[in-house]
Amino acid sequence: MVKKELNVSYQVWATATELPKEDLELLEEARKATVKAYAPYSHFRVGAAALLANGKIISGANQENASFPAGTCAERVVLAAASAMYNSTSILTLAISYESDQRKSDSPVAPCGICRQALLEFSTQFNQPIRLLLAGMEGMVYEIGDAATLLPFSFKATDL
Ligand code: THU
Repeated sequence: MVKKELNVSYQVWATATELPKEDLELLEEARKATVKAYAPYSHFRVGAAALLANGKIISGANQENASFPAGTCAERVVLAAASAMYNSTSILTLAISYESDQRKSDSPVAPCGICRQALLEFSTQFNQPIRLLLAGMEGMVYEIGDAATLLPFSFKATDL
């Protein structure tokens, strides 16, 4: 028997204002994008903004549905928009923020499991790691160098 271990490393910024200018701007786009949410059921509005390899920034938000599983997270809205608008351009960095009617938006939230799977496929397609910036409207920021590290033991194309 061999015991193995996987580690997730990430950087914590005490406040968004400490971020390099380009990252702060992207995070601000994600925060602004929360107003694009359609979230009449959860009242939890997630905004995501992607910096593409072609320098463009696109943003989107979660879109819910009366049939709950038909809703789409902000992250996957942005992945779909990136492919629709700039087919074959990879994503370098994805910033994610949120607003909630239930709680203060003062700590980072991380992408859900389905979004981690979708991010992994997108980065595999373009052979480009996707860096994540996670933060609320205020408070600390988590920087994760490669979204794929959030999904160890993933099921992927090479398994088929
Ligand atoms: N949501 C996202 O948009 N991204 C995530 O990574 C987590 C959850 C949305 C889905 C749903 O509309 C609401 O947040 C509450 O789960």
